[in-house]
Amino acid sequence: MDITELILDDHHEQRRLFAILEQIDRAETGVLSAIWDRLAAFLELHAQAEEEIFYPALLQVGIAARRAGGVEDETLDAIHDHNEIRDAIAEVARHQTGTDEWYAAVAAANSANSDHMAEEEREGLTDFRRLAGLPRRHQLAVAFAAYEARNYAGVRSVDKDPVSYVRAAEKKLRTAASGSLSVGTLKRN
Ligand SMILES: [Fe+2]
Ligand SMILES: [Fe+2]
Repeated sequence: MDITELILDDHHEQRRLFAILEQIDRAETGVLSAIWDRLAAFLELHAQAEEEIFYPALLQVGIAARRAGGVEDETLDAIHDHNEIRDAIAEVARHQTGTDEWYAAVAAANSANSDHMAEEEREGLTDFRRLAGLPRRHQLAVAFAAYEARNYAGVRSVDKDPVSYVRAAEKKLRTAASGSLSVGTLKRN
């Protein structure tokens, strides 16, 4: 297995569920709600799994390869995007299923998620394949699959401050390295 493949598989499933929503008659509100609820829970779980497993690993391999600035920027962008996706999902819940407002909110969530996936595939996943070997990618794939399986019923949707997230992830890496490494370059207060 390879964590970058599992993430791509999840992205494909997200695109598939958005496409299914677009093909259901707007009068079928029960069906629209059921598909949307599944998609919303999956988007939140996927983002959380990346924040728990993928981005800390990207920071780790980037810092080890002396590319701290690049992986930090990618991680800051990703957490910012995940917050936007979580907020867009919350906005859908404010509207009655099948109304014009509901469709507009779903379209906004689709747009935020599509932009994010494209950037993540182009940058984070590509860099990770360059920086991490197959055994590491396999090990992380197992952890990612386990996290999604254990939390299949859903996770609590919580926005995160991107800078605090990167700082906390780097602090954990420093602790794991017993303080012997100079980890990270994030200079913001
Ligand atoms: Fe992501
Ligand atoms: Fe993703």
